[in-house]
Amino acid sequence: MKQQQQQQQTVCCGVVDDDARLKTFETEEQVGVVQEYYGKELQTSDDLKTSACCTAKAPSARVRKLLSEVPDEVVRKYYGCGSPFPVDIRGLRVLDLGSGSGRDCYVCAGLVGEDGFVTGVDMTREQLDVARAHVDEYCVTTLKYASPNMRFVEGRIEDLKSAGVEDESVDLIISNCVVNLSPDKRAVLKEAYRVLAPGGEMFFSDVYCDRRLSVEAKTHPVLVGECLGGALYEQDFLRLAREAGFTDPRMYAVPEEIEIRDDGLKDILGQARFYSITYRLFKFPDGRLETLCEDYGQAVRYKGTMEESKHACVLDDHHVFETGKWYEVCGNTASMVAESWMGKHFDVLGDRRTHYGLFDCDAGTGTDGGGGSSGGGACC
Ligand SMILES: C[S@@+](CC[C@H](N)C(=O)[O-])C[C@H]1O[C@@H](n2cnc3c(N)ncnc32)[C@H](O)[C@@H]1O
Repeated sequence: MKQQQQQQQTVCCGVVDDDARLKTFETEEQVGVVQEYYGKELQTSDDLKTSACCTAKAPSARVRKLLSEVPDEVVRKYYGCGSPFPVDIRGLRVLDLGSGSGRDCYVCAGLVGEDGFVTGVDMTREQLDVARAHVDEYCVTTLKYASPNMRFVEGRIEDLKSAGVEDESVDLIISNCVVNLSPDKRAVLKEAYRVLAPGGEMFFSDVYCDRRLSVEAKTHPVLVGECLGGALYEQDFLRLAREAGFTDPRMYAVPEEIEIRDDGLKDILGQARFYSITYRLFKFPDGRLETLCEDYGQAVRYKGTMEESKHACVLDDHHVFETGKWYEVCGNTASMVAESWMGKHFDVLGDRRTHYGLFDCDAGTGTDGGGGSSGGGACC
C-alpha cells in the first residue's frame, strides 16, 4: 500500500522520485528471497533459468589457467555474468562484493600474487561455507604461497563498515552479477567509494536494463533471483554512480545481451532488454575528475609493461593505447591512466596548469574518438 501511494504520488506530480525508482523492493523481505535462492534453491549453475548469470566471453589465457586450478565445488556454484578482472593487478588489495562461492576471489588470489590480498564479502552462509572450505589448500598447495592471501567475510555490501572494511583500504573492487540484487544500490556505491583508496577503482560486471521495469518484474522472485528483476536502467545507474562520487563512469567493453529463454518470464518483461556490462568507476580526490572532457594539452603513452598486454592497454570501449605511441587525451583520461593504480605503466606529458577549453572528442586524435558509452557527460 505504502509503495502504491508513493508511486501514485510520483506519477501525479510528474516528479521523478529517485527512491521509488531505485529501491526495487522491501529490503529485508527481498534479501531473504536472494539468500534462499543462492543458499538453497540453486545447487549449481545448471539450475539457472536464464542466461543472466552466465559469462559468454572467453577470459584471458592467464585467467583461464588460474580457473583450471580453482576447486570444482567453487566453480560449480559460480553465478557471475562477466569477467571483472583488469589486466595486471599484481600487488593490489582487492575486494569482491558478493563473492558467492568465491570463484573470482580464487582467480584474483593468483593474479595479485603473494604481495596482494583478496577479501570476499557475501551475506549467504551456504556460499561462504563453500568459499572458505578450500582457501588454505588452494593458496598454499596450488599457488604455493607461504600463507593464504584471501579471506571471506560475512556481511552486507550496503554496509561494508560492519563487515570491517575500513576507509580507503582497497585498491580494486570487483563484483560479478551482485549489485542488481541489492535493495539499496545507492548505499552500495557510496560504500564502494568510501573503501576505495584514491587512484583505486571499481571494475565490475552486472546486469542492466534498457528501461525501468514494472513493479511486477521487480518483485518477481525468479526474476530477482536470476539478476533481472533488480537490474537497473542503465541511465539510473550512471546517475547513482556520479552521485556517489564516481564522476566519469567508463564502460569497459561492448555490452552482451542476455537471452531470456522462459516464455512466462518473457511475458512479464515485455520488450525490456537486458545486458551484461562491465563498468570502471575510478576514485580520485574530490574534483579531480570533471563532468566533461576538458583539454589541458596532455598526452599519454603506454609502456607495454602490463602482464599479458605487451602490445596495447585497453582503458575502456573507446580507448586502446598501443604500446609506445603518444595519444592526446582529456584531463579525466590522463588521470585514469597516469594517477590510478595503473600509473606505473604510463608516461604522461603535460599537467593541468593550462586549459585549452573542451576536449574535442571527435577530432580523431589517437583513439579518443568519443564512444558515447557513458551516456553523456565526461568522455563524450
Ligand atoms: C549471482 S550470485 C554471484 C556470486 C559471485 N559473484 C559469482 O560470480 O559467482 C550473487 C551473490 O551475491 C550475494 N549477495 C546478494 N546481495 C547481497 C548483499 N546485499 N550483500 C551481500 N551479498 C549479497 C548472494 O548471497 C550471492 O552469493
